[in-house]
Amino acid sequence: MKFLYGSAMKLSSGCDIMPHNLDKNKKKCYTNSSTLKNIQIQKKEVTAMKYKVEVLTGIRPTGDLTVANYLGAVVPVVELQAQGVSPVVFVADLHAITDNEPTTVRQYIHSVVADYIALGVDPKKAKIYLQSDIAGEVTTLTALLARHISVAELLRVPTLKDKLKANANPKTANALLLLYPVLMAADILLNRARKVPVGEDQLAHMEVTRLLARRFNKRYGEVFPVPEVLQVKSLRLLSLKGEGKMSKTNPRGAIFLTDDLKTVANKIKAAETAFEGIMNEKLESHILVAKGLAKTESEREEVDAIIKAHKSGKPVMGQFKQLLTRIVQNFLGEFQEKKAEIVRDPFYIPSVLKEGAKVARENAIETLEEVERVLYHTQ
Ligand code: TRP
Repeated sequence: MKFLYGSAMKLSSGCDIMPHNLDKNKKKCYTNSSTLKNIQIQKKEVTAMKYKVEVLTGIRPTGDLTVANYLGAVVPVVELQAQGVSPVVFVADLHAITDNEPTTVRQYIHSVVADYIALGVDPKKAKIYLQSDIAGEVTTLTALLARHISVAELLRVPTLKDKLKANANPKTANALLLLYPVLMAADILLNRARKVPVGEDQLAHMEVTRLLARRFNKRYGEVFPVPEVLQVKSLRLLSLKGEGKMSKTNPRGAIFLTDDLKTVANKIKAAETAFEGIMNEKLESHILVAKGLAKTESEREEVDAIIKAHKSGKPVMGQFKQLLTRIVQNFLGEFQEKKAEIVRDPFYIPSVLKEGAKVARENAIETLEEVERVLYHTQ
């Protein structure tokens, strides 16, 4: 078992006595005998580094968000924040260039940060950073981790298999697609995140992260605390038009956070519902949207009352659509106003990202120092 001298020191004294090649400015400190005793005691017990970030989530800046993104990905983070957890949210622009032009991706970065803040992620509590602001650290760890998984194993990751079946040809698919889960593991392990809230579509990637952490630890000594999956209940929000999931790729059936109020009204008017007395997946999805976006309990009660009437065979779908329209318009109106306020100051988002990058870089460097130490057996 490795003796993590550096970590023990950090634990007991909050400072660092190690000589490092990555950060020459780290404060040195001197210990007294009682801290040394602590180290002796911890010698056997200290194994993996400590978790550093309680909750980490990454978002790909590839387009305007939909209400499905809000309810599925943002709400869980805002709820954790309300419970006193300080989440770290990062914009995964390197992941986004697997299937998007870098110029397209760049165009959405600030917008997605403004969205998250307008939707309730509070930069005073949460940290928000841009992945490529710590590109050196992320790609270094990606390379070090990629050595521990084979091409054959990566080809078996179900998300890649599905992608290759659906729209990419293995002969022409770019290699970043293959490395995608390793890059994701690097994000998570650099941050030493304890919990990663992800939807079902990311579970296979989380398995790769956990596998890589364990393999690396086994080979070089305990370094990475293995992250847990915080599975977010999938909401099954469907396209308003009944063509699969609500997503950016089905714009007619998706409510975008950028939609103007008239567009929303038209989309809901054209939405498919259900015959009197019948429940189907589409109507269930509309109900989730209505209740998820409703601002007040009384609006949610209105939804319940209409659906009760519908179940008993009354023709109330027109009324339901009116209510849904009102709820969505209120939500979007408020959101768009907040977002406009946030982006009015052109220095605000860059300053949030700068602050986030500072913290992310510190964590990343600390992790990489430990990685280098076990790789090269330096003290
Ligand atoms: N792959 C994730 C998605 O498409 C985004 C992502 C990248 C991520 N790195 C991550 C999510 C690390 C959580 C943790 O949604």
